[in-house]
Amino acid sequence: MRIVLGVSGGIAAYKSALLLRLLTEAGHDVRVVPTRASLEFVGLATWEALSGHPVSTEVFEDVPHVPHVSLGKSADLVVVAPATADLLSRAATGRADDLLTATLLTARCPVLVAPAMHTEMWEHPATVANVRTLRERGVHVLEPASGRLTGADTGPGRMPDPEVVAAAALALVEPAEPSPAQDLAGMPVVVSAGGPREPLDPVRYLGNRSSGRQGYALARAARARGARVTLVTANVALPVPEGVEALPVETTEQLRDAVRAAAKDADVVVMAAAVADFRPASSATSKIKKSGGDPLVLRLGQNPDILAELAAERLRPGQVVVGFAAETGDDGASVLEHGRAKALRKRADLLVVNAVGAGRGFGTADNDITILDRDAEVVATASGSKDVVADRVWDAVLAHL
Ligand code: C5P
Repeated sequence: MRIVLGVSGGIAAYKSALLLRLLTEAGHDVRVVPTRASLEFVGLATWEALSGHPVSTEVFEDVPHVPHVSLGKSADLVVVAPATADLLSRAATGRADDLLTATLLTARCPVLVAPAMHTEMWEHPATVANVRTLRERGVHVLEPASGRLTGADTGPGRMPDPEVVAAAALALVEPAEPSPAQDLAGMPVVVSAGGPREPLDPVRYLGNRSSGRQGYALARAARARGARVTLVTANVALPVPEGVEALPVETTEQLRDAVRAAAKDADVVVMAAAVADFRPASSATSKIKKSGGDPLVLRLGQNPDILAELAAERLRPGQVVVGFAAETGDDGASVLEHGRAKALRKRADLLVVNAVGAGRGFGTADNDITILDRDAEVVATASGSKDVVADRVWDAVLAHL
């Protein structure tokens, strides 16, 4: 991308050397156009060395190439940092008395300016009016940061950090992410995530390594596609995705109650939580003590299989029930064979099978999945980030609906 970096005459001009570096290191071809006054702060040699191009301030240099027209016309983005009160005034009135203001008049691309001046100048009605004029014409004027100014004074008027200016400028020209299709618009769905903890005594529990990432990705993806998402979340240390209703739970029993209550009104239930198959047959009311060197024997009772119950009962007619099967292969059967057996046993509409262990699945960023239907036939496979996988799961749900 071709970027023009305008620099006007303020002490913050030195920060633009770093801004220039950030833009060139991001792979852009940057032409620097300083004002005459700015050269009092940072000289031509700095701009020429860092940009790799000759630099001038005047329209009467390099006349055969008509730079006062060509620079602006060929730019994909113009950034002016710092923009002084004088520069804002000249830009607002359409002056063309140096190469930078002439460039601003000929540019048809996005323009971002980062004002920097003393607070009194920034707040003066003349500057306020100039900023309003520029904004009305579509120029993006950053708010100056507050803090220490050139002398002992402080207040709004500092040029924002180069990283902030670079990010704001590039955001103007980067293509916006296409918004996802709203193919789940208004649909009530329930997702369970994480791993329940089964108390052994007031301080200990039995738990598992589920991070909740895949469940949270499923909730986020459904929300992005317009669904009304209830996330039953068991011991997950991740921020709840925006727009999602979270119901935190601790144990399998609480998870079961919360999922079943929410499932009564849901079109889809996705059981991504790593529910414990077993829990201590009883939980001690006080801390279990060591007794000499004797081993401690725990008796475990089986938890209800929430997924199998949901699949058998169908708390709402037509509801699609989706399970997950985190498997490790063994001598007896492969991951997929274990998954197939589980699909036939649990009778969920869809079962998402993934391999776990040895750095795969639990807690990692990526997942490899095979989606089976209730007859254990493969309906889809996917691999990639948990966000990508989440979208493929919802695609399969939609196809099933
Ligand atoms: O049998 P397994 O634990 O591998 O089954 C995994 C699937 O079943 C997941 O969708 C999980 O949420 C669900 N499950 C359940 N209740 C249990 C155990 C697992 O709903 N007690």
